[in-house]
Amino acid sequence: MRKFRVVLGPSPVHFPDDTALRVRGSKVTVGVAMEPYLAVDGLSKSYDGVPAVRGLSFTISPAETYGLLGPNGAGKSTTISCLYGLVRPDAGRALIGGLDVRTELRRIKALAGIVPQDDCLDPDLSVEENLWVYGHYFGIESGEVRRRADELLRFVELADHRKKKVPELSGGMRRRLLIGRALINQPKLLILDEPTTGLDPQARHLVWSRLRELKRRGVTMLLTTHYMDEAQMLCDRLAIMDHGRMSVESTPRELIDRHVGASVVELHAPPPGAARPFSEAGIETHEFEDIVYLFPRDQTPDVLRKLSETGVAFASRPANLEDVFLKIVGRGLRD
Ligand SMILES: Nc1ncnc2c1ncn2[C@@H]1O[C@H](COP(=O)(O)OP(=O)(O)O)[C@@H](O)[C@H]1O
Ligand SMILES: [Mg+2]
Repeated sequence: MRKFRVVLGPSPVHFPDDTALRVRGSKVTVGVAMEPYLAVDGLSKSYDGVPAVRGLSFTISPAETYGLLGPNGAGKSTTISCLYGLVRPDAGRALIGGLDVRTELRRIKALAGIVPQDDCLDPDLSVEENLWVYGHYFGIESGEVRRRADELLRFVELADHRKKKVPELSGGMRRRLLIGRALINQPKLLILDEPTTGLDPQARHLVWSRLRELKRRGVTMLLTTHYMDEAQMLCDRLAIMDHGRMSVESTPRELIDRHVGASVVELHAPPPGAARPFSEAGIETHEFEDIVYLFPRDQTPDVLRKLSETGVAFASRPANLEDVFLKIVGRGLRD
């Protein structure tokens, strides 16, 4: 069930039959039960008997951006490989647009695009040729492929580099070309495996801006990342994964509110026992490397006042997904 807030204007608004309307004052909340665009149920995959993905289940609604967030080795790429038919799952089921990935891969590839973690562009071809060749795989007619390629090159800001060969491109340009290439068949679902790993901050921002634009256009997205800022910014919902399993799943805001609270206080290299009075007062504390994290929730002003009296070095900041990860998994995301 997804919730929308709508303003009713002069023209009639039509909703599906199973729409639930709730009116409170001048606000109308509309709940629409939607078929998920992607549904994964009990997905499992081992390599030589070593589990990489263990019974993973999640769904993605149409036009939703869903993130798999986890450290290296969590099983993110394996999950994606199972969905795109690059790896055969040992167990479980996955449907994309109602089609079973075990039996309908060809049709699924016509409605999904993938940006893999590893650069798999053809180094002998130019930027535009990479798009043309990919378009022809889908059986798109030549004139149409060229028209789409022109538009996509503008979209990913590579129009001025169209004649360059792949080895002449920076990391950010290659990633944008991979995104452009994945869009040549006008997919309804875009799957992105670590879209900004290895990019400098400016290149990352450019990729994020393109992904936000796709989101505005209603493209359903599944992305993996080990950057909590990326997940927090782009994802409507996300799952934190570790050792092939999902630990928690929700919206970024809800995960932070539920597991951490609004703010975090960090004690930097505190003397032994410095956090004990706080944990004894019922405040959650987590130790990681030389920092002790306090999640004081509604006791924040009190904690800050007490700390300023002790002379311990500390800093207070808004809570983020990395704190959620630390609490749930017990170590940092970039371990
Ligand atoms: N082709 C493969 N052969 C053997 N082991 C693999 C293969 N691909 C991944 N693994 C292992 O599976 C686990 C999950 O890997 P992966 O799905 O790549 O995680 P992530 O993308 O989250 O970093 C890791 O322990 C990794 O070493
Ligand atoms: Mg990976």
